[in-house]
Amino acid sequence: MIPVKNFTEIKKMRESNRIVGLLLSKLDSEIVSGITTLELDRFAENLIRSEGGKPAFKGYTIPGLAPYPASICASVNSCIVHGIPSSKIVLKEGDIIGVDVGVYKDGYYGDGAKTYTVGKVNAETQNLLNITREALARGIEQARAGARIGDISFAIGSWVQENGYFVADSLTGHGIGRKLHEEPMVPNLGIKDMGPRLKAGMTLALEPMVNVGTNRVKENGWEYFVADNTLSAHFEHTILITEQAAEILTVR
Ligand code: MF3
Ligand code: CO
Repeated sequence: MIPVKNFTEIKKMRESNRIVGLLLSKLDSEIVSGITTLELDRFAENLIRSEGGKPAFKGYTIPGLAPYPASICASVNSCIVHGIPSSKIVLKEGDIIGVDVGVYKDGYYGDGAKTYTVGKVNAETQNLLNITREALARGIEQARAGARIGDISFAIGSWVQENGYFVADSLTGHGIGRKLHEEPMVPNLGIKDMGPRLKAGMTLALEPMVNVGTNRVKENGWEYFVADNTLSAHFEHTILITEQAAEILTVR
């Protein structure tokens, strides 16, 4: 069963996700050459707590891995997602970094991500970011009551492939609410008119993860990398399904 949120729950979802959006906006001016991803993690944790939230990823567990140790995921260049912040990872001009953040407040989760450039990047790198951001926008456009999950997946995946890029294997978007990951899974590749039907009040995290050279991934503990070490970008919004256009809850 895919949970449908009532008005009170939606208010709480708006609040958790507002903090996610606020942080992702504030990071624009924090992400500069010379900063470490651990410093970004500190900044994020302070901001989340000062807004009355808790970092949702910290202590998150999946079978076989130690609890996630940080407040954000900081995924540099060929890291697709779940990069662990470190004092040893120093950002430099030309890098890209995906920052993914989860916030828990008053019983409900928010989740969002954005890929940032460090200083100037080359035109191909900028194109990857533009196509990935647009993939998310196209997915959101399909997300309304009466549509199906496959409509979202198709819009994302076909756009990525038309532009010569690859959807990362085995990583998907998801329902979100009282848990960080709820039903349904939202794949970034799919077929129109397939999958669960959307209803007003469902809340979903859409998150295309797009690679330059291959769909294949390699895992190292929490961290996912592109198998051929080419670049990868990631954008994520939590949205509320309505009878009209979806409401973006992670507004920034
Ligand atoms: N946005 C990520 C996801 O939906 C959250 C990372 S999970 C954690 O999978 F392990 F970092 F907590
Ligand atoms: Co997510």
